[in-house]
Amino acid sequence: MQEHQIIKKETYSEDIKKFVLYEPLITKHCQPGEFIITRTKEYSERIPLTIADFNRDEKTLTIIFQEVGKSTLELGKLEEGDIILDVIGPLGKPTHIKNYGTVVCIGGGIGVAPVYPIAKKLKEVGNKVISVIGARNKSLLIMEDEMKQVSDEFIITTDDGSYGKKGFVTDALRELIDSGNKLDLCVAIGPVIMMKMVVKVTKEFNIPTIVSLNPIMVDGTGMCGACRVSIGGKTKFACVDGPDFDGHKVDFDELMKRQKIYTDEEKIALEEYNKRLKKSLND
Ligand SMILES: Cc1cc2nc3c(=O)[nH]c(=O)nc-3n(C[C@H](O)[C@H](O)[C@H](O)COP(=O)(O)OP(=O)(O)OC[C@H]3O[C@@H](n4cnc5c(N)ncnc54)[C@H](O)[C@@H]3O)c2cc1C
Ligand code: FES
Repeated sequence: MQEHQIIKKETYSEDIKKFVLYEPLITKHCQPGEFIITRTKEYSERIPLTIADFNRDEKTLTIIFQEVGKSTLELGKLEEGDIILDVIGPLGKPTHIKNYGTVVCIGGGIGVAPVYPIAKKLKEVGNKVISVIGARNKSLLIMEDEMKQVSDEFIITTDDGSYGKKGFVTDALRELIDSGNKLDLCVAIGPVIMMKMVVKVTKEFNIPTIVSLNPIMVDGTGMCGACRVSIGGKTKFACVDGPDFDGHKVDFDELMKRQKIYTDEEKIALEEYNKRLKKSLND
């Protein structure tokens, strides 16, 4: 087995892939909440992906990613046995884990992947873990069995009602609060708009909330400034100061704007990639 080799590949839905990688160095030290940066081939972009799970004994690390553009599509084309050119990490600060009491862990869409190792560790140290995982529809729901195993209570929501409760994760959160659950901490990871909405609810009830931010990153080591976010009016770099932050202090609107800075370039990169792919299939 070689470093960065794909030991196992699974497909959750058409565009969501899971890789189990052989990573003897990273798995010596990694913790829940941290991430890696991958580069598929020599001229590929560097992209950050959360460590969704790891096994120190087997030296394996799991990543789960959604193919949303050129780089994730290119990564998703790799197969079992292939080797990713670069995988660096662990990066970022680990999630602060302790016994808070009752914790609600909320994962939306691909955000369930980073929530899972955090929920697992929170459960291990004695918290009561209530998990709420949501997706637009049933086919986009990931890690249901894994999340169920680490949760004392487990709720699924889908926007279209194709599975679990119909509605958003925030509806389930409100129901939990309304039915008298005393929540000591909320961990919410998913699309920025989802985290913003969860924080709106938890602010109302004064529930401390950890969110994991996903701004555009380049180096992942605090040098380029691409990942800057505003937390309580102060500039922070998500790659070294986060990606976890106090949700009540995050400027989500600024983050959403900054995520869209390169939309035109990303569209061109995807079109060019698809053209090259089509040409290589025809040749
Ligand atoms: C700490 C962190 C952890 C992440 N973990 C996961 C994960 O576990 N699974 C997953 O599917 N996605 C994760 N992401 C998002 C993932 O990095 C982007 O989806 C990916 O970079 C998109 O690249 P692309 O070329 O395929 O798409 P593009 O078409 O280039 O971009 C699509 C969208 O992805 C975002 N994006 C683009 N480039 C980057 C970049 N270099 N860094 C961050 N975001 C970018 C932008 O918002 C953009 O609008 C994470 C991001 C961060 C910052
Ligand atoms: S990615 Fe460059 S400073 Fe964070």
